[in-house]
Amino acid sequence: MSKPTFYITTPIYYPSDNLHIGHTYCTVAADAMARFKRQTGYDVMFLTGTDEHGQKIEKKAADAGMMPKEYVDHIVDGIHKLWKLMNISNDDFIRTTEPRHEKAVQKIFKQLYDQGDIYKGQYEGWYCTPCESFWLDRQLKDGKCPDCGRPVQKAKEESYFFRLSKYAPRLIEHIKTHPEFIQPVSRANEMLQNFLLPGLEDLAVSRTSFKWGIPVPFDDKHVIYVWIDALSNYITALGYGSEDNSKYQKYWPADVHLVGKEIIRFHTIIWPAMLMALGLPLPKQVYGHGWVILDGGKMSKSKGNVVDPVMLAERYGVDALRYFLLRDMPLGQDSLFSNEILINRINADLANDLGNLLSRSLSMAEKYFDGVVPAPQQQDAQQDQPIVTMAAQLPGKLEQLMNGMRLAEALTAIFDYTGALNKYIDITAPWVLAKEEANKPRLATVIYHLLEGLRIVGVALKCFLPDTAEKIRAQLNVTEQDFTWQSILDYGATKTGTKLKKGEALFPRIDVKKELEELAALEKKAKQNLAADSQMEPFKPEISYEEFDKLDLRTAKVIAAEEVKNSDKLLKLTVQLSDQQRTIVSGIRPKYTAEQMIGKTIIIVANLKPAKIRGILSEGMILAVGNEGVDALIETDLPVESGVSVH
Ligand code: ME8
Repeated sequence: MSKPTFYITTPIYYPSDNLHIGHTYCTVAADAMARFKRQTGYDVMFLTGTDEHGQKIEKKAADAGMMPKEYVDHIVDGIHKLWKLMNISNDDFIRTTEPRHEKAVQKIFKQLYDQGDIYKGQYEGWYCTPCESFWLDRQLKDGKCPDCGRPVQKAKEESYFFRLSKYAPRLIEHIKTHPEFIQPVSRANEMLQNFLLPGLEDLAVSRTSFKWGIPVPFDDKHVIYVWIDALSNYITALGYGSEDNSKYQKYWPADVHLVGKEIIRFHTIIWPAMLMALGLPLPKQVYGHGWVILDGGKMSKSKGNVVDPVMLAERYGVDALRYFLLRDMPLGQDSLFSNEILINRINADLANDLGNLLSRSLSMAEKYFDGVVPAPQQQDAQQDQPIVTMAAQLPGKLEQLMNGMRLAEALTAIFDYTGALNKYIDITAPWVLAKEEANKPRLATVIYHLLEGLRIVGVALKCFLPDTAEKIRAQLNVTEQDFTWQSILDYGATKTGTKLKKGEALFPRIDVKKELEELAALEKKAKQNLAADSQMEPFKPEISYEEFDKLDLRTAKVIAAEEVKNSDKLLKLTVQLSDQQRTIVSGIRPKYTAEQMIGKTIIIVANLKPAKIRGILSEGMILAVGNEGVDALIETDLPVESGVSVH
């Protein structure tokens, strides 16, 4: 009988920068799901890839003096290496620049055009270049892009449109009748209330303003615009629209598209509408995960606060990082990343609970039974029953949690069991039993339960921490066959007489204080490098509008200026603000001389608390440009009075 199938995808990532811990989070979660399903008897298809077209990439490549393909090839190489390092078991990797994808996307576009679902029109709207999104007036937030908050430009161009509006009623019906389609459920309401019920507009699906995209097959002035290209990857990777569509036949519809919360909208509105238009079944579920956030907010390269997964994996091991991402960051919500939380988690769960359980159990087996698995002989219902019951319940519990994409809870269940095994050591006190020969049968039983428990823990951890599971298997010296999911459904597959192979500690304990200091130094250096690379200083932490609004910026006219004695930088300026005069001491020499300053209209911070500089009370600060020193003053030659507000 053929196995049931399970098709899971991550988003295809933009190869515009190196991927960070947020992308790693999504991919590791999908990997754990894929491995779990394979382990529990499914024929799995796990897809990831890269989304390589668009204006943003075209521009980045041009800035780097490269052709777009050359530019993305280099980054995609790095992505392959990252997934290899992170032990990602994807079955395929699709690049939207591959012919298999491009050809199929052109076919899809043509079919939709031929059947009237795509038509030519004029697009007028607001375009956010970094997000590659068009927005309508009512969608803007304070006149800016509602996704990233950056300025948008008015854009008008000839464009092909997809009749998205036509599919709204069927989409609403589908979402209402398939509560499992959008997960977590709160997201379904968001889609209905914010997008579907207010009414959908037809979607512009081509561009003439840039070239780096798949050409519209019947109108090569146009390239196909992002979402029709990107979303189709989930079926083009399966051979849809090609001569061999056997994988499509086998795996579609997808069981889960795992995506970040900001792109749920595209996956639950545009994608199903496209599929409806093509007459294809819809994916069974779109699961929207939260973001990995840092103290200062969402990670972004420009803030210089991107956490590099390669550095972390190299420092602590791939499994420690996988564990942290999966255990500490429940899928549905945003989760805070900090070095301290990561290190404490590694120490508490991996070094202490799991690592110690293995090393203590194997040491005792070595000491009391020459490193050979003893035969259980004398049970004690009160002491043994709780761990045996937990072991029996664990597989069912894990299946239930994993089927609900509750990966963090599944790991918690496994670690509850390791906790129980550690407690079992404390209450049975094998070192006390070992003192009397008469207790040997009881001691054998206790050690057996521990070794069997470790085997079960190892099998259960396989999908989350594949390398660690393998190390546990090797130290217990059980065969592959006795290390399958099937093998833990019945208790007791650990074979008496097996020679154990105690090895190194699974996870060395980390000295928290020392490690945090080293990491802080590394981060500082990385920020400096970033600033040097981009010729730009790292941004300061975000402030609120209220905080910004406290600044009182004014125009001021310099009416007198002199050098401050014993200083080669400072000038003492007398400035006029309407009918007031003030003194400001400023470090603008040698760029500006006293004579040059007189008569200039400059901008000052007028409400800065006065401070004494070289004995002179300075009542404000002047605005200047420059990374460290002063490159230029901000001055105005506009016909303005002094004392006027600047905002
Ligand atoms: O959106 N935490 O690509 P992308 C968690 N190409 N997830 C994060 C994250 C963070 N800090 N930062 C980013 C795209 N992500 C499109 C997708 S699919 C047909 C096309 C996640 O590289 C983000 O939520 O900008 C998204 O799901 C994924 O990384 C890809 O982002």
